Amino acid sequence: MQDLNKLKSKILAEIKGAKTLSTLEDIRLSALGKKGRVTALLKELGHLSAEEKKTFGGALNQLKGDINSDLNAKREELEARALNTQLAEDKFDVTLPVEPEPEGRIHPLTQVLEEMMEIFAAMDFKIAEGPHIEDDFHNFTALNIPPEHPARQMHDTFYMKADQGGERKLLRTHTSPVQIRTMMSQKPPIRIIAPGRTFRSDSDATHTPMFHQIEGLVIDEFTTMGHLKGTIEAFVKAFFEVDDVKMRFRPSYFPFTEPSAEVDVGCDLSKGQVRIGGGNDWLEIIGCGMLHPKVLEYCNLDPNKYQGFAFGCGLDRLAMLKYGMPDLRPFFESDLRWLRHYGFRALDIPTIAGGLSR
Ligand code: DAH
Repeated sequence: MQDLNKLKSKILAEIKGAKTLSTLEDIRLSALGKKGRVTALLKELGHLSAEEKKTFGGALNQLKGDINSDLNAKREELEARALNTQLAEDKFDVTLPVEPEPEGRIHPLTQVLEEMMEIFAAMDFKIAEGPHIEDDFHNFTALNIPPEHPARQMHDTFYMKADQGGERKLLRTHTSPVQIRTMMSQKPPIRIIAPGRTFRSDSDATHTPMFHQIEGLVIDEFTTMGHLKGTIEAFVKAFFEVDDVKMRFRPSYFPFTEPSAEVDVGCDLSKGQVRIGGGNDWLEIIGCGMLHPKVLEYCNLDPNKYQGFAFGCGLDRLAMLKYGMPDLRPFFESDLRWLRHYGFRALDIPTIAGGLSR
């Protein structure tokens, strides 16, 4: 019993002297843990007589209770002290200047897309969209590109694995299938632009496997090549912000238009830079034409009643031309240095694209 009293005062003194929560925990383990001093005595109870068990057992339980209550009191005291020290040390100076927030940039492609959408919205065009994974009918056949047509080979198409029915879906090679989807789901008059991602197995300084196009489609009862020329001219002037831009419509061939043309803009390439406007050089920027009657028929529109025109161009290419970016690949590499250099500051004004996505 005397030993027990000694042990008690020793442990209680240890508790009293503990300076940190971790020493307190060590003390608890050394007294009440599996191999603790009090635990060892409790294990010995088995060897004692019933009478001794009663007195010694009761005293041991009393000791355990005393130790626990001292431990709890000390723990509360140490926790309160730790909190007070932290509160005292955690002062901060409210007069210090604020760290500047990192400011994002608008990607040149987003910027160009917004500019284009604003220009066409002003001419009463709506935005249309279509899927990236297309079928053969919308990407080729309905655009008058039948199975053996050489244009299919020119597109370097990414094909998916054939499905159970043997159909091979593909990644759309141009935005033109959106024309088909629009004509099949809406009634003329139609006036849309369809910007979006397109895919071809192609890669060099001016080609990436994923790129962007913008498609235009107008269908009505009296649509002529004059409307096509007027629309493209208005767009080119507004987009490049030049009034006296030279343009030429060069005869060309697309399976889905007849007649077809490619639009060149006059520019100056002489000083290692592209300047749209003056100069004696030409750059091709847009493919276009009057809708082929067969395409109208595929979409269940009567070619004797409706005519229309379509155009398509590379969005990335227009961005490169307008903002003087020589290489297309960094567009999609997410290099912050490039984005900071070529990106645009966000103005806090609502834009068409912002309005659309909301
Ligand atoms: N889809 C064509 C391409 O990817 C571009 C094009 C040319 C679209 C003429 C048109 C068009 O709508 O009329 O090369």
